[in-house]
Amino acid sequence: MTAAPGTYESVSALVRRETSMVYDAGKEYLVEARLRPLASAVGCTVDEYVARLPVDPAERRKAVDALTINETSWFRDHAPYQAFTESMLPALLEERAITRRLRIWSAACSSGQEAYSIAMLLDQHLPAGWSYEIVASDVSTAMLERVTAGRYSAVEVNRGLPATHLVRYFERAGNEWQVVPQLRERVSTRHLNLAAPFLGLGTFDVVLLRNVLIYFDHATKYDILRRMRPTVGTNGYLLLGSSETTLDAPPEVADLWTREAIGRVQVLRPAPPTNGTRSLT
Ligand SMILES: C[S@@+](CC[C@H](N)C(=O)[O-])C[C@H]1O[C@@H](n2cnc3c(N)ncnc32)[C@H](O)[C@@H]1O
Repeated sequence: MTAAPGTYESVSALVRRETSMVYDAGKEYLVEARLRPLASAVGCTVDEYVARLPVDPAERRKAVDALTINETSWFRDHAPYQAFTESMLPALLEERAITRRLRIWSAACSSGQEAYSIAMLLDQHLPAGWSYEIVASDVSTAMLERVTAGRYSAVEVNRGLPATHLVRYFERAGNEWQVVPQLRERVSTRHLNLAAPFLGLGTFDVVLLRNVLIYFDHATKYDILRRMRPTVGTNGYLLLGSSETTLDAPPEVADLWTREAIGRVQVLRPAPPTNGTRSLT
């Protein structure tokens, strides 16, 4: 980044403060690429733009949105979705036979491909008489607006979406594709910073916390894993990204979870309470 001394440091401190994401040294090029269009839009240099962020909440929001890493795709990594359909869902259909209702949380949902991938599977595999709700949350308001709109470019729908699903679950919307209303109405969005308390969310049968912990430092990651525990209902599931694990977590966090292999997918399940009382909040 060809910026004045201190510019990169103040951007990385801002991102850390607002999202807990750690922007290591060496990502200067990314900061410049993401902020330059915003700076140009208000007619200033990246340095000048960064200097105004502390006193301009609207631009600060846009800058933080631009600096989050939103990489995602439909049915990302495939195997977790296969495990969901073939193992988790049948088990949950037995477990929740009385309420006949499932709640899923896509925490760090990005532009919504994860939430809508699950919605498509539930649409196909949930027996008649069952209902479901998917909560999609993210720290980026721009991403949440995208989830609500459910509109995707031709490039985006090409990333992991089977053609049959495109035909069945999307409508043409100009140059884009829009998720059909019957799936969109099942997905509600919520602005939520994972590094802050999870208030009023209730419990979920499956929580997808995928490909986001990698951006946090160890203390933040373990704290999130600890606070996640009460959000997963009895015999529910927590799914992390394929490179994320609790193996390195301290015992007070690791002991809250039981690791289980479903094929080659590791899932976490709430560990049975021990006799020692441990605060989960
Ligand atoms: C790489 S995407 C992962 C999307 C999706 N879970 C997947 O696996 O495809 C990471 C997402 O985490 C969000 N994020 C980053 N920091 C966050 C935080 N502190 N709280 C909530 N979401 C956060 C970003 O905005 C981004 O949308």
